[in-house]
Amino acid sequence: MNSPLKPRAAVERMAPYHPPTGGRAGKLRLDFNENTVGCSPKVIAYLKEKLTADALTVYPEYVDAMRELAAFFAVAPGELLLSNGTDEAIQVLINTFIEDGADVLLLKPSYAMYRFYAELAGASVREIGYLPEDLAFPLEEFLAVIRPETRAILIANPNNPTGTGIPVDGVRRILDAAPHAAVLIDEAYFEFYGVTALPLLRLYPNLFVSRTFSKVYGMAAMRCGCLFSNVANVRWMHKAQSPYSVNMLAAMAARAAVQDTEYVANYVKEVLAARELVYQGLEKLGIQFYRSQANFVLFRAGERAIPIRDALRERGVLIRDRSYEIPGCVRVTIGNRTQIERFLAELEALWTR
Ligand SMILES: Cc1ncc(COP(=O)(O)O)c(C=O)c1O
Repeated sequence: MNSPLKPRAAVERMAPYHPPTGGRAGKLRLDFNENTVGCSPKVIAYLKEKLTADALTVYPEYVDAMRELAAFFAVAPGELLLSNGTDEAIQVLINTFIEDGADVLLLKPSYAMYRFYAELAGASVREIGYLPEDLAFPLEEFLAVIRPETRAILIANPNNPTGTGIPVDGVRRILDAAPHAAVLIDEAYFEFYGVTALPLLRLYPNLFVSRTFSKVYGMAAMRCGCLFSNVANVRWMHKAQSPYSVNMLAAMAARAAVQDTEYVANYVKEVLAARELVYQGLEKLGIQFYRSQANFVLFRAGERAIPIRDALRERGVLIRDRSYEIPGCVRVTIGNRTQIERFLAELEALWTR
């Protein structure tokens, strides 16, 4: 009998990544940094209008979406790669520019998919820790470990799960220190932070910036993101990308989503107000937390991290354990004020028990 096949060595070696993927429906989802109230109603209306049997028969065409998204982000269409979420953007970047065994620099803790795709490609990954005191970006330490052979640097700004950011000046120092590396600045939470490396795009041919429709836009299920870089890089990545990886509905939804700027601005305002409530609520309970530039807050529950996560789940509120990477810490996504009041009330009941 034939035996099962052996995978590539890189697949055998890589650490598995198992995000919880089931049983979230109907609960207050403060565990994945999603938008907690839903996308703009204009997106749904647009999709309903355009979703016909005839439209579904056609392979996706991206020309209109590319033109409109490029205009929205103030780049040329040739500087933009549409992707199946940021995850595919990371994968395409790595598949295009990173050879087996290449040196890739990451931060720790950070978004798990950087390591995932780098390891999958057979890269040699090094990780530099966020500063233990306040989880700030370790700029000097990071600059010190960049090598001439470093081929990729992948940074979330602001970072998940720490919520801390690096100012544009810091990004520039990294770009100056690593002219031979692809430097990705993943701006998945940009709208909550307001700091972007996009204006540096034409100054640094090794810069890549990503944005997503999964967070503030409330369209995580659609899987749609944008990756920006100079025209030559985008052309290479386009060559290495599957031609129809973004489905037609996602491309349409993205077009509609960027038109409703008022919706996004209102949601950001609401989240920032709710984040203040979280700070106040945690302070009242004497729980240490890290100030965040994003729609989530990391706090220290100590020995109670996992029991608190589990007890909240039983009460219908989901938060994410991060104690496996920052001892004692859990992360709560910030929703609207009503949702956060519910979270705080449940937390207080458990904490003071
Ligand atoms: C830093 C960061 N980048 C990207 C993503 C995922 O983005 P997408 O849904 O566009 O793949 C996340 C999701 O948690 C994230 O935290």
